[in-house]
Amino acid sequence: ATTLGASAAERGRYFGAAVAANKLNDNTYVTILNREFNSVTPENEMKIDATEPQQGVFTFANADRIVNHARGRGMQVRGHTLAWHSQQPGWMQNMSGSALRAAMLNHVTQVATHYRGQIHSWDVVNEAFADGGSGARRDSNLQRTGNDWIEAAFRAARAADPGAKLCYNDYNTDDWTHAKTQAVYNLVRDFKTRGVPIDCVGLQSHFNPNSPYPGNYRTTLSSFGALGVDVQITELDIEGSGTAQANTYRNVVNDCLAVARCTGITVWGIRDTDSWRASGTPLLFDGNGNKKPAYDATLAALNGG
Ligand code: G3I
Repeated sequence: ATTLGASAAERGRYFGAAVAANKLNDNTYVTILNREFNSVTPENEMKIDATEPQQGVFTFANADRIVNHARGRGMQVRGHTLAWHSQQPGWMQNMSGSALRAAMLNHVTQVATHYRGQIHSWDVVNEAFADGGSGARRDSNLQRTGNDWIEAAFRAARAADPGAKLCYNDYNTDDWTHAKTQAVYNLVRDFKTRGVPIDCVGLQSHFNPNSPYPGNYRTTLSSFGALGVDVQITELDIEGSGTAQANTYRNVVNDCLAVARCTGITVWGIRDTDSWRASGTPLLFDGNGNKKPAYDATLAALNGG
């Protein structure tokens, strides 16, 4: 096929983009979004600070704009994210213990309930493991409520929206030998063994010279898949340009296509100028909305070439 989304669909997969609500008035942006992608992830609009700015006061207008835009055009929506140590509103940053645990679970329940039946996959918990070689949980106010906070969040999400796939999402979990990758693997294996509801793992896959695309990425995808969960590449961007960047995008797509349980790829923005990496060029379209070599390589790989 001739677009990313249609080509991925022919392979039984989706191809998505992170979308910002304030860009839905940008004609170039929306033209590319509507033409190329069949899944969207709100880049910031479903985060805790955006959806519950004051405790018990929920604001969904910006996230709803994205969800309505997507679903009105037959695109899937990935929800991002229900529980996270970052982007917490001030009231939550100042909480701890059982009060924070209850507030977190109420947030999960309220947001997942608002979008019940509309979300393909939820990033229920984001970035709960530490960087470095320890394989430990990241210290945070949520972690200090007790080690079982992650499974409590997943159970609340399942109860609120039984039809959504529930994902654990993290970064620097791409290299199979990395301690953080093994720690997430052990979490998922434990959840599957004990019947804690989990359906998918999100590998953010922000690749740059400090955390490059690893040669064992396909092993990571297939190893998670073998636990009986889907694997989704959730925030793909690859720093670089030209042929080198294009080759890495091709490798990532080919790795996903080689693993039956790798069900979709989301790039973290549309044009380079939309990227969170302010000075980078990590995406598939340049600042004018022109297709880059990375786009051509991605499309060709999706079409088996
Ligand atoms: O909207 C305000 C604006 O009103 C204000 O004037 C401005 C001043 O700084 O800030 C604006 O908010 C910014 C927001 O992006 C929207 O542009 C925040 O400061 C900024 O922190 C926020 O950054 C986002 C970041 O997550 C926050 O953690 C990025 O857009 C977003 O791409 C990034 O996405 C994360 C994923 O959620 C999790 N994985 C890593 C990924 C990249 O960091």
